[in-house]
Amino acid sequence: MIVCVCNRVSDREIRERAQAAPCALRDLRRELCVGTQCAKCLPAALDVIRECSSDPAATAISQVV
Ligand code: FES
Repeated sequence: MIVCVCNRVSDREIRERAQAAPCALRDLRRELCVGTQCAKCLPAALDVIRECSSDPAATAISQVV
């Protein structure tokens, strides 16, 4: 499923990135360009990051934009 329509970034790409190493929305912006245009995708991208992490500390990191 496409999460970021503007940049054609899928939930799979976000999940792969989030599972490779702890990441925050700013990492997705820098590395995948998620949210760099209309930014409507940021809540959904954050949900994917949270789904990938059962670690509370990583979830806290994901809230840093
Ligand atoms: Fe991601 Fe527009 S949908 S920047």
